[in-house]
Amino acid sequence: MADHIICKTDEIAEGKARQVQIGGREIAVFNLGHRFAAITNRCPHEGAALCHGKIAAFVSANGPGEYRTEDEKIMVRCPWHGWEFDLETGRSYCDPNRVRVKTFDVQVKPGETLAEGPYKIEIFEVRTEDDYVVLSI
Ligand code: FES
Repeated sequence: MADHIICKTDEIAEGKARQVQIGGREIAVFNLGHRFAAITNRCPHEGAALCHGKIAAFVSANGPGEYRTEDEKIMVRCPWHGWEFDLETGRSYCDPNRVRVKTFDVQVKPGETLAEGPYKIEIFEVRTEDDYVVLSI
């Protein structure tokens, strides 16, 4: 498993997604505000691009007029026919045991750890004292 840098965190607006192509796979990466999620970009119904879907928290009800949103269970609604998929598990709302999209691990990492690379140079502290340049080794 290799890491692939997608973009800076602020390059995907909150509530929106970006489509990326990695190793022949089309993947939708969503910014959910407090975290990111990634799923296969093609809807298993008829192939719509899920990156254009609307995301919303799952809503459940105990009875008429009594509903609540489950903020940890975020769904994406397919833009063509409205099938909904849980962005954590990839399972569809309509048939969770048979219809699903693949999910991918996505993390936010600090830029300096990604830019580090395999090559390192030795760094020495340098300071000036009474107009002399001093190198500390
Ligand atoms: S293509 Fe997604 S619900 Fe039909």
